[in-house]
Amino acid sequence: MLRPNMNYRELKDSYLFYNIAKKTREYTDAHPGIHIYRMGIGDVSLPLASSVIDALHRGVDDQAKKDSFRGYMPECGADFLKETIKGHYGRRGVDILNDEIFISSGASDELGNILDLFDRSSSALVIEPAYPAYVDASIMAGRRIIHLPAGDWNGFLPLPSKDTEGDLIYICSPNNPTGAVYSRDMLKKWVDFANSRGSVILFDAAYEAFIEDEDVPHSIFEIEGAETCAIEICSLSKTAGFTGTRLGYTVIPRSLIREGMCFNDMWVRNRTTKTNGVSYIIQRGGAAVFTEEGIKEIGEAIKYYKENARILMRALDDARVWYCGGKNAPYIWLRCPGDMGSWEFFNLLLHRIQVVGTPGVGFGAAGEGYFRLSSFGSREDTKEAAERMRELLVSL
Ligand code: MLT
Repeated sequence: MLRPNMNYRELKDSYLFYNIAKKTREYTDAHPGIHIYRMGIGDVSLPLASSVIDALHRGVDDQAKKDSFRGYMPECGADFLKETIKGHYGRRGVDILNDEIFISSGASDELGNILDLFDRSSSALVIEPAYPAYVDASIMAGRRIIHLPAGDWNGFLPLPSKDTEGDLIYICSPNNPTGAVYSRDMLKKWVDFANSRGSVILFDAAYEAFIEDEDVPHSIFEIEGAETCAIEICSLSKTAGFTGTRLGYTVIPRSLIREGMCFNDMWVRNRTTKTNGVSYIIQRGGAAVFTEEGIKEIGEAIKYYKENARILMRALDDARVWYCGGKNAPYIWLRCPGDMGSWEFFNLLLHRIQVVGTPGVGFGAAGEGYFRLSSFGSREDTKEAAERMRELLVSL
């Protein structure tokens, strides 16, 4: 008889954001017509930049004409898009080849799919609190997970020690959910560690566009030695509002080799087998992101979300609530008041002031007692949510 993948038994009942949506729906079903202030999942609220929309329209028009019509796209991505991404890296002094860039349908898809490259016996080191898909995708693949807790004692930025192990190392900087960012020197420590033990870093750079401190690296490839130990997974979801449009890219250096096998070649083999690539129209839209006009427009959207973050932070300051993040990242990570548990605080905010955030414990045990607010909401909702939180928190 066919045997299901028994690893699924090890998973929690449902995925964090699904759980939050379900609890919120139960509440709105019981309170028809009530408005919810959604500061939970990091879903953007601004429309795509007009240069992206124009490029998407042109892409559609291309598909209507015999001369410009495109059928199957190259599985690993169109050169016209790779060129713009190469330029984006080049502006930060990182030299990559077109062949080292793989266009994907988004970072979350890629973070799960990329695990195909590694033997199932390889362990995964997850710095927690962490984006829950790292753990869940590793569990589905039957991998041993090593949890490395982070906390305010190390600024949510743990470093490798002599006891650290892990074949795959997930690093997310700017971090989801804490907003913490690794400095160059700190990342160098992880790179040296990975090279010394033959590990591979899966660097999640989904939030790099939010970095405002000049000396904070946007890419692991700004660190010497990363080209022999890292894969970088990027997304246009938060950078350019592509959460619903779906587009991302992954960088796998040609020099990333283990036991004589080149991961770049392996990923080409994987992609050419398992996908026919991302749609032509969407890639056209993506290519507009890194044009002069696109960069200007996405910069405006990011400024808007950063102002939202400041509005939320001011409310927390007034209520004397401890938090971090919100500066180089779109998330604010706060300590629940009065030693409340994460879900207890979630329920309090939902039931008393109709604000939905993300319970910290959903990002792993190290997140218990913390809570995440997203700055991706609309300005009106963010202002009202901040006001309601200020009032409630001051009264506790
Ligand atoms: C988050 O809220 O952590 C992210 O938006 C979820 C995701 O990117 O899938």
